[in-house]
Amino acid sequence: MRLSDAEFDAMNSRARRVLQRCVEWPLFKRMGLGDCAGKDVVEVGCGSGYGAALVSSLGPASYVGFDVMPEQIDIARRRGLANASFLVADATDAGELADECADFVVIFGILHHVESWRAAVAQCRRLLRPGGILLVEEPDGTLLRGWDRVFAWGHPQQGFTLAGLEYELDADGLELEDKLVIPGVFGLYRARRRAVAAPAVHTAADHACA
Ligand SMILES: C[S@@+](CC[C@H](N)C(=O)[O-])C[C@H]1O[C@@H](n2cnc3c(N)ncnc32)[C@H](O)[C@@H]1O
Repeated sequence: MRLSDAEFDAMNSRARRVLQRCVEWPLFKRMGLGDCAGKDVVEVGCGSGYGAALVSSLGPASYVGFDVMPEQIDIARRRGLANASFLVADATDAGELADECADFVVIFGILHHVESWRAAVAQCRRLLRPGGILLVEEPDGTLLRGWDRVFAWGHPQQGFTLAGLEYELDADGLELEDKLVIPGVFGLYRARRRAVAAPAVHTAADHACA
């Protein structure tokens, strides 16, 4: 769902950039994204494209970021990143992107915004090639409920939890390989799409990722 004005401003603030660059980015690289040179990367909920700039610095073969908010995609496109493209799409239905188009799917904290977050996890699996890697970080649902009581950012009440995410990864054919969890606060997960063929989640896609 769309961000509230307060969260939109916070997500596009200098403080958010510093957090993403100095804390989250090194963790993502250590968890496997450091090997994305020459690979195809898709970012779900790319926001205004700061993650795209970080990923692009590693020389992927392609990068596609998508987000449900056109305002975010406008900002991302204005970055003028070579080898990166952006589109407006929902995390649960990115039908413009082909099945199995990505070696890496990356999420910097968006599932807690998606009403049907389980469908978004299934979408990640659809986008990944067999053996491809999903890297996903999220805040814990309990923390968010407390945060909203104070700051009123209005996250959806869709029952997202880190434990639920772990369960869903496995149920969707994504094998959890590594995780960094601060209980009740934050979780970062690396999961690999199992090589076993599984039925497609959506109908055939029209376009390739890149
Ligand atoms: C907390 S912000 C994070 C943005 C960016 N990943 C970052 O780390 O700065 C969540 C992002 O998810 C996007 N979003 C929310 N619901 C979505 C959905 N259903 N499909 C795609 N993007 C969504 C929002 O527009 C927003 O840009």
